[in-house]
Amino acid sequence: MAAEIVVVGSANLDLVVEVDRVPAVGETVMGGDLRRIPGGKGANQAVAAARLGRDVAMVGRLGADEGGEILRAALNADGVDTTQMITTEDVPNGVALISVGSDGDNAIVVSPGANARVTPTDIEAAADMLRNAAVTLLQLEIPLDAVTAAAHAAHGIVILNPAPAPAEPLPEGLLARVDILVPNQTELATLTGHDGPITAEIATTLATTLPSQAVVVTLGADGALVVDRGAVTHVSAPSVTPVDTTAAGDSFCGALADALVRGESLIDAARWAIRVGAATTLRPGAQPSLPTPTEVEQLLA
Ligand code: RIB
Repeated sequence: MAAEIVVVGSANLDLVVEVDRVPAVGETVMGGDLRRIPGGKGANQAVAAARLGRDVAMVGRLGADEGGEILRAALNADGVDTTQMITTEDVPNGVALISVGSDGDNAIVVSPGANARVTPTDIEAAADMLRNAAVTLLQLEIPLDAVTAAAHAAHGIVILNPAPAPAEPLPEGLLARVDILVPNQTELATLTGHDGPITAEIATTLATTLPSQAVVVTLGADGALVVDRGAVTHVSAPSVTPVDTTAAGDSFCGALADALVRGESLIDAARWAIRVGAATTLRPGAQPSLPTPTEVEQLLA
């Protein structure tokens, strides 16, 4: 059966340590025991959508090592089709070094490993999958030429989560090929060259300068702004006390895709995504924190 959602992106083994507070530059802090947890923005988004009930396939690369085996097994356990996840000889799997503070905030360093080897040729090999998917979900933890190739190969709705914020300008035409751009405030500032704090008002103005059809700006605890053909809607977030925000943005994107496949409007999809994202912050770890629909209601009750 064709996948409803195809995620083109990264899969990392997250090496996670809990700390009282995330260390400042040059500082050493003591933390808890090391945990190894399946993560990576692409894999998290794929698993998020799969747990919400969607048929999902993922396109990308895994290392020929234990990390790659753990990631493939984790994706398969959630029913994600990994036939287009290429195991790359002599390359380590992507790894993310994550410290999580007691307030749920985190700092992350990613060593991309196999993720950095994804090529436009890999995307061509997945062309049928991309042609048949209702939604294609993209992020920026794999090379930009592969992301751009995927955006052009997709026939359904293209969602780009421009995370992490790009260090170089995006290729010409990529944003125009994106139907729904989902940046957080930092990513929006980077994409628009804005300096200084971003209020909701500034975010709205900046979002309208981007060539994507619609922009959904995530605002953390303040919810999200949906900017669609000149109309702006603020969606508020449920009040929660987060224990770990690592995968909140990823579950937001997976849930947005899930709701759009089910035919919901963009605003209703953002309302659902905000709830799923908030529920995700209430459990630790990236993929272990991603909820089913029943768990969303239980966690937010
Ligand atoms: O978005 C969260 C993810 O970012 C983590 O799982 C980590 O792997 C990094 O890629």
